[in-house]
Amino acid sequence: MNVGLKTLILPANEAAVAKAARCLAEGGLVAFPTETVYGLGADAANAGAIARLYEAKGRPSFNPLIAHVGDIAAARRIARFDATATKLAEAFWPGPLTLVLPKTTDCAVADLATAGLDTIAVRVPAHPVARAILRTFGGPVVAPSANLSGHVSPTSAAHVQSDLAGRIDLIVDGGAVTVGVESTIVGCFEEPMLLRPGGLPRGEIERVLGRPLVRPPEDADNDAGQPLAPGMLASHYAPRTKVRLNAESVETNEALLAFGPDSVRGAEAATAVMNLSPRGDLSEAAAHLFGYLRALDTKGARAIAVMPVPHHGLGEAINDRLRRAAIGR
Ligand code: TXA
Ligand code: MG
Repeated sequence: MNVGLKTLILPANEAAVAKAARCLAEGGLVAFPTETVYGLGADAANAGAIARLYEAKGRPSFNPLIAHVGDIAAARRIARFDATATKLAEAFWPGPLTLVLPKTTDCAVADLATAGLDTIAVRVPAHPVARAILRTFGGPVVAPSANLSGHVSPTSAAHVQSDLAGRIDLIVDGGAVTVGVESTIVGCFEEPMLLRPGGLPRGEIERVLGRPLVRPPEDADNDAGQPLAPGMLASHYAPRTKVRLNAESVETNEALLAFGPDSVRGAEAATAVMNLSPRGDLSEAAAHLFGYLRALDTKGARAIAVMPVPHHGLGEAINDRLRRAAIGR
């Protein structure tokens, strides 16, 4: 176990980017901001570094990683693009979209990162710090969310620190992220498939494709067998406190995760109250979601009661993460 490492934390600037690239080249583990959530990066071609990455997160190694690259040209070196993939990449990269594509025959990404699949998940992030690190490092970087496996994804450097200090080499602190939920994952199979709702709303993708995304088969959601999105374990993104959804009132010793201008019965007696977006804005709610779940998790409440969140736009990703948080561990 690599617990006991000294984890350096640097504010995002040129020196930190250079240090991050050097650290990755030496097989180190570097957390850095993307526009969605903080990622924990390792050199995608270095199986030893990837093994340590799985270990640092406590992640089951059958759960494959997303390869992050600087541009479409770099993505084409590791993945095969059909017309649909090209259309989506040109419309949405850089941005919060991950494409699952067939690997190229000379794909430089270590098999350990793709968990033995013949497909690879690829993304071009939009965050300037992520882009600078990718540019300086010069190769693909695999990066899962920089949290302990099963925990809520980190949207600030402090979240990364609280999960992974002593387990990784470097945290580049670029402040709070803007999107707040992970990238949307689309499998470019015969029919383009929504494998994970995320920071790019389904409707925007369907508008570009001119047709609806298909859903994965129901059992893609559990950890038995060979799910299409192996990481979509039902219990994921979970705080330690129990989460109760669609709350219409607050019960004794509950904390409240509110949404919108209205209140619910019992709110004044709640252990703590945080509102994802008092004006009912879904982008703002997504940006606050994981930070507020983490904060309410520290209040010693019996449960976190969550008010209903509308399902359109980013609401689909928010409700997906809330549902997983409610399943618990
Ligand atoms: O926004 C994001 O996507 C963040 C930032 C850091 O880029 N990353 C992220 O990675 O959320 P992670 O590892 O927490 O989630 C990646 C998901 C997992 O559910 C994994 O199973 C799925 O992508 N995945 C990776 N490769 C796959 C493949 N070849 N086929 C299907 N699913 C795949
Ligand atoms: Mg994750």
